[in-house]
Amino acid sequence: MTQPLVERYRDRLPLEPGDPVVSLQEGSTPLVDAPAVSERVGARVLLKLEGANPTGSFKDRGMTVAVSRAKGAGAAAIICASTGNTAASAAAYAARARLRGAVIVPEGQVAIGKLAQALIHGARVIALRASFDRALALVREVVRRHPVELVNSLNPNRIEGQKTAAFEVCDELGSAPGALAIPVGNAGNITAWWRGFREYGAAPLLYGFQAAGAAPLVAGHPIDRPETVASAIRIGNPARWEEAMDALTSSRGRIAAVSDEQILEAYRLLASREGVFCEPASAASVAGLLAHGAPGPDGGSPPETIVCVLTGHGLKDPDTALGKAPAVVGCRDDLAEVERAIFG
Ligand code: F0G
Repeated sequence: MTQPLVERYRDRLPLEPGDPVVSLQEGSTPLVDAPAVSERVGARVLLKLEGANPTGSFKDRGMTVAVSRAKGAGAAAIICASTGNTAASAAAYAARARLRGAVIVPEGQVAIGKLAQALIHGARVIALRASFDRALALVREVVRRHPVELVNSLNPNRIEGQKTAAFEVCDELGSAPGALAIPVGNAGNITAWWRGFREYGAAPLLYGFQAAGAAPLVAGHPIDRPETVASAIRIGNPARWEEAMDALTSSRGRIAAVSDEQILEAYRLLASREGVFCEPASAASVAGLLAHGAPGPDGGSPPETIVCVLTGHGLKDPDTALGKAPAVVGCRDDLAEVERAIFG
């Protein structure tokens, strides 16, 4: 059995000596070559498959640390606002730690797989008739008034756990990649990766990508009604705005937007040519490279190796996949018809 993430990196994580290790064997996710994307981008592109985490997204890296620390500190309940993946992860780790869990999601805007996860793990799932940004504002009020632990990426332990993805990539490659392409929503993950790289003594270029209809960091102001097919990053006012911009500036990287069409094109390319099924928000990292290329720092030479973070598994959002894939071929119980269906 591989070691839990918090044991592997214990010396670099903020756990107290008496904290229990609440783990589902997160981390150690695959880093796979992407020949079709590499050819189009003109650099070696690798995919970090964060959908291979226990609940199917990168959130588990942060959740194991946040929930272990919350349990160690005597918390009885955890809460988060979420576009879906944080909710699924919080619900699973709450179940594991025997804590109560509550998640607040924007009504009608969460992919069905994520809702199923949060529900089956026994969290209280509250569908708010408002945006994710409002849900987060309300949850922040709730934790001021009640003894409940916030496990959104505002919780510093989430960032600490998520930085381990950068350690893994550097360890596996033997050094940092030239650049990292990553989707940006609430801006916790880009903050975490940058912290991980810095602690490793590395400073790759960061390319952050937002969906065009939900791109406050690109616009330079909050977006009131964010809209995109990539529901995970349908966020108008990122909580870690300043840190994300600092990371982008320090890395001499850039933030850019990709349209829903570009996201879905990358999503299909990954599935049909690389054999990798990620959720739409994750495909924004590849869409960004395809749309904007891989510019070097300040006009310098472009990076040779680029890691794209594929943040969540495609099975989270079967509705989008079915809407974008060819139709199923119906068939009667008849050999000739089966043959026509296969070869015709
Ligand atoms: N990709 C996926 C699949 C996500 O679920 C998220 C965020 C992001 C990218 C962006 O990461 O917010 O750290 O910039 N999902 C959060 C949630 C908001 O509630 O599950 P970020």
